[in-house]
Amino acid sequence: MTHHASHAARSTKRVPDALDPDRIPRHIAIIMDGNGRWAKTRGLPRVAGHKMGVDSVREAVRTCGELGVQVLTLYAFSTENWLRPEAEVNELMRLLAWALKREVSELNKNHVRLAVSGRFEKLPKNVQAELTRSMEKLKNNEGLLLNLALNYGARQEIIDAVNAGIRAGVHEFTEEILARHLYTAGIPDPDLVIRTSGEMRVSNFLLWQIAYSELYVTPTLWPDFRAPNLIEAIAEYQGRHRRFGGL
Ligand code: IPE
Ligand code: IPE
Ligand code: MG
Repeated sequence: MTHHASHAARSTKRVPDALDPDRIPRHIAIIMDGNGRWAKTRGLPRVAGHKMGVDSVREAVRTCGELGVQVLTLYAFSTENWLRPEAEVNELMRLLAWALKREVSELNKNHVRLAVSGRFEKLPKNVQAELTRSMEKLKNNEGLLLNLALNYGARQEIIDAVNAGIRAGVHEFTEEILARHLYTAGIPDPDLVIRTSGEMRVSNFLLWQIAYSELYVTPTLWPDFRAPNLIEAIAEYQGRHRRFGGL
């Protein structure tokens, strides 16, 4: 703690010794996978895994806030997840609204701001209302930006961006113009993408934004992925050499 205590900007941050406080990723994006398998190995219904996953979310948010991460994007529901049985979809939506209601004061205390990436208007009305209420309550905070990827699909996002650009009168796109119309406009690209539960795929997540992100896949299932696991992922990220195509 002592070697960087003189830096006023970081004096409130608690950075573990395993990490270099000067190389904390600005943006971490997580594919939170493995809730169903976590439940299955315990003979529980899949929803029990989703419920336990909420605890991992709380820990990831708190840890990122403490470390001074600027943005945490969490893949919570993909456009493809509508293919699941209706009962599970309903349960996921119910859990989301319930967790938001329960956590919003704590998020506020921790200076967290909230954003949503995804086709918002297609979410159930009560979920939209809860999200809107929470975003409103947290909008003046200046700590971590918690970006929930909800009803999110990266291909749809790119299509939506192109159509929004055309409606705004764009005749020719550059990378900057396209990025400005994505759901993630104004948010820096992820430095680190984490996927839990061992699947080696991106499942339609942030295809544009992860062009040069560092990838970290762990076999740990999402409900078991807690603060020490996140710190381990960041430590591995800090050991990587990002070349961006150069030498
Ligand atoms: C991730 O866990 C949560 C969502 C995709 C909403 P899963 O529900 O995909 O769990 P597995 O992959 O079946 O174990
Ligand atoms: C990705 O997980 C989506 C979220 C974590 C919300 P999935 O479980 O839906 O991905 P696939 O089906 O294994 O690719
Ligand atoms: Mg899965």
